[in-house]
Amino acid sequence: MINIIPCNKSYYEDMYKIHLSVMPQNDIMSKQCFFDEFNQPTRKYFVAVNNNSLLGYVGIFNTIDDYNIIGIAVNQDVQRQGIGHKLLQTIIKDARKNQVKTISLEVDEKNEKAINFYKKNGFIVTNIRKKYYKDNDALIMWLYL
Ligand SMILES: CC(C)(COP(=O)(O)OP(=O)(O)OC[C@H]1O[C@@H](n2cnc3c(N)ncnc32)[C@H](O)[C@@H]1OP(=O)(O)O)[C@@H](O)C(=O)NCCC(=O)NCCS
Repeated sequence: MINIIPCNKSYYEDMYKIHLSVMPQNDIMSKQCFFDEFNQPTRKYFVAVNNNSLLGYVGIFNTIDDYNIIGIAVNQDVQRQGIGHKLLQTIIKDARKNQVKTISLEVDEKNEKAINFYKKNGFIVTNIRKKYYKDNDALIMWLYL
């Protein structure tokens, strides 16, 4: 059974392994940056686990009235089985509980998989940030709660 639970440090190493294995090249963070995020008080992470095995994670940056998605990733072997949706629902529920009004993110214009995923979950594209990534633009997407 898949459970979505708040992240704790026993998952950090495996989260970074998933990050390295599924994130598009443009989105890869150094291990130092990835781990530094966990110590920021405005960040919140949840993980999807089956028994003790890590299937995916989501992290947000809380800016009082918005949750900005820092990263969401699901292990390649179990993608397209609704785990990303479950992670997102957990963030949405948490945002509503805290009277947060929007969820936002930047996504590589070439990351079709993720763009489809966000659109399927109700996000809309509002603008484009030119050359946000090394070679590509970013789409700015919002979900209004
Ligand atoms: C984006 C991601 C988290 C989605 O997780 P998931 O568990 O596969 O998502 P779900 O099963 O809940 O949703 C599936 C939907 O996502 C989209 N999607 C997922 N894989 C896709 C693919 N290979 N091609 C096109 N659309 C895809 C579709 O809308 C799909 O719905 P459908 O199966 O009815 O067509 C996952 O693909 C991933 O880890 N991608 C790599 C990391 C990444 O790019 N993160 C986002 C950075 S901004």
